[in-house]
Amino acid sequence: MNVSVSIRPAVLSDLPAIIQLDALSNPHPWGEKLVADALHSRENWIIESVGSTPLVALGWLTASVVLDQSELELIVIDSSMRRQGLARRLMMVWSETVAQQDVSELLLEVRESNLGAISLYESLGFEQVGRRKNYYQTEQGREAACLFTRIL
Ligand SMILES: CC(C)(COP(=O)(O)OP(=O)(O)OC[C@H]1O[C@@H](n2cnc3c(N)ncnc32)[C@H](O)[C@@H]1OP(=O)(O)O)[C@@H](O)C(=O)NCCC(=O)NCCS
Repeated sequence: MNVSVSIRPAVLSDLPAIIQLDALSNPHPWGEKLVADALHSRENWIIESVGSTPLVALGWLTASVVLDQSELELIVIDSSMRRQGLARRLMMVWSETVAQQDVSELLLEVRESNLGAISLYESLGFEQVGRRKNYYQTEQGREAACLFTRIL
């Protein structure tokens, strides 16, 4: 990787950079309101390109924490920066941070067609525990959601 990156908790002033990342690199963009809601109400981490002005967000992970469970809501990496281990690093920061908050189980759901993300999750020890038929809208119709968990 030629670009030097760092990972830190995201803050409200990161909103414009995350909105841009969401718009350009998320195949199902959340849009400004949902991104802002996530920054206000969830746990968020950002990968930034060190020294870039204005800030360039190369990755974003947002997750909720409820009692002893944390659920991944979205992870997105800049399309031009994939397969360099950035998502794996973000997922590890998430799991290590929430483990210190007494979280004992990580949860997520993912489109059944998203084989790259499923491969990422399985490589980190997540196991599929369920499937919700016709859960997500697609351009062709609907597709299932796969539910994964990992016990910490
Ligand atoms: C899924 C996503 C987050 C992966 O980000 P990434 O930074 O490219 O992932 P990493 O480089 O950390 O990959 C780690 C491992 O996951 C697996 N993996 C990741 N992307 C993969 C792909 N497209 N195909 C197959 N395996 C993949 C591989 O095992 C990879 O290890 P390797 O490169 O040594 O083979 C990224 O493709 C993305 O932002 N997609 C759009 C948003 C999305 O679908 N998010 C997930 C649903 S919330």
